[in-house]
Formats: sequence, C-alpha cells, structure tokens
Amino acid sequence: MSLDLSTSTSIVLFGPPGAGKGTQAGNISIFTGKPQVSTGDMLRAAVKEGTQLGIEAKGFMDEGLLVPDNIIIGLISERMEQDDASGGLLFDGFPRTIAQAEELSKIANVSLVIMIEVPDEDIVERIVGRRMDPQTGEIYHVKFKPAPFDVSSRLIQRKDDTEDTVRSRLDAYHMQTKPLYDWYIEASKESHLRVISIDGRGSIQQVSELIENELRR
Ligand code: AP5
Ligand code: MG
Repeated sequence: MSLDLSTSTSIVLFGPPGAGKGTQAGNISIFTGKPQVSTGDMLRAAVKEGTQLGIEAKGFMDEGLLVPDNIIIGLISERMEQDDASGGLLFDGFPRTIAQAEELSKIANVSLVIMIEVPDEDIVERIVGRRMDPQTGEIYHVKFKPAPFDVSSRLIQRKDDTEDTVRSRLDAYHMQTKPLYDWYIEASKESHLRVISIDGRGSIQQVSELIENELRR
C-alpha cells in the first residue's frame, strides 16, 4: 500500500535514542510535505526559555527519563491546533509510551510508523559524538557527519549526551517505548496503518535511501 500524500494523515518516526530520527526527519518531511514535530526539540526550547513546562521537564531530561505523559500530551494537543497540522504531521520521538499513542489516536490519524532500528552497541558512539548547530538546528557528528569549518566553533553538545545518561535513555526506550512497536503492529491488523522497520546501521545516506524506497512503494 503506498502512502497517500494528499491525505491529512500523520507519520510516526520511532526508534532508540541516537537512531537517526532527527537526521532523517528533514528528508522525510520534504518528501511527504509533513512538518516535523520533535517533542525533544519542543522540550529543549521550553527549558531554554525557562517556562513552567521547561522547569518541570528539565529534571527528567537530564536524568535520561521520560517526561510524564500529561506534559507531553498537553504539548502535542497545543501543537495540533496550529494551522499546518491540518495536513498531518511527522512526529519525531513521539509517542514514546502506549498511553501517548492512545491519546494520539484520538486526535490524529496515523497512517505510517517508521521504526529505525540500531543496536545498543552502536548508540553510545553516535550520541556521545553528536554536536548541534544552535543557529540552524543542524545535527552533526564528530566522526560520521563532521560540521563545515566555519560552523565548528559554535557547535554545542546536548546536556543529556553523556555516556551515563545514554544508558538511562536506552533503559527507558527498552522498558517504555519499544513495546509500542508491537502495539502498532497489532493496530495495523485492523486498519490501514502501515508499519515499516528500517535497518539504521548503515551510513546516513544508506538509511535515507532505505526510507525513501519504502516511501515510494
Ligand atoms: P529526544 O530529543 O527525542 O531524544 P532521543 O529520542 O533520545 O533521540 P535523539 O534525539 O537523541 O536521537 P535521534 O534518533 O534524533 O538521532 P540523531 O538523528 O540526532 O528526547 C530527549 C529527551 O526528551 C528524552 O530523553 C525525554 O526525557 C524527553 N522526551 C522527548 N520526547 C518525549 C516523549 N514523547 N515522552 C516523554 N519524554 C520525552 O542522530 C544521533 C547522532 O548520530 C548524530 O550525531 C548524527 O549525526 C549521527 N547519525 C545519525 N544517523 C547516523 C548513521 N546512519 N550513521 C552514523 N551516524 C549517524
Ligand atoms: Mg532527535
């Protein structure tokens, strides 16, 4: 079944921390025309602005724990009210619990779930070497995607991108988020939902091609 880009359905991009969700989201967004919505980026913006929500979320994020469902669902409900949500959205890192997926199913029609699979042993190197450009939001990696020379002096490292925190994030992923995959597989049996699993171990370019091939089907 091919993805009908004319509909207002949404896409869920799913996978462990550092799998490449943010890296691949830009291309998928261009390909499908669906705006990217990253709950991680929204939470980091709230922390930076010092809003009440940011203050509540910060402790969880710094520890590598999931932010409580009610906070996340509130954020997404507000985001769904913006004009560009009417054509469907590309959710990056949301939902992350079955409770979040159940809430999402009440307010959006998800037609595609893309799972990027990367083994834990590859994750730490990806996370610890990640650098972000605060001006453009571009994601780099010291080894796998070095930044251009004129950008390198302004790069920042995410506060939760330490070896210790990534272990907690991986635990949270396996305990609370991974079960969602089976939940979506079950849901797909009774609906038009398509669930695809992408081998995320190749290069950034190889993973992009695998995803694009699936989207063209
Ligand atoms: P969030 O920001 O979503 O973090 P995450 O899920 O841990 O995922 P990342 O952003 O770390 O990884 P990514 O898959 O986007 O990888 P990227 O493309 O950057 O969430 C942060 C925190 O917010 C959570 O821990 C939680 O506290 C909270 N939160 C957010 N959403 C929540 C929710 N729904 N519910 C509850 N709490 C929530 O790539 C990583 C690195 O690898 C980069 O350097 C990149 O260049 C490199 N790379 C990418 N692809 C490849 C490749 N194929 N080969 C080699 N290197 C690669
Ligand atoms: Mg990300």
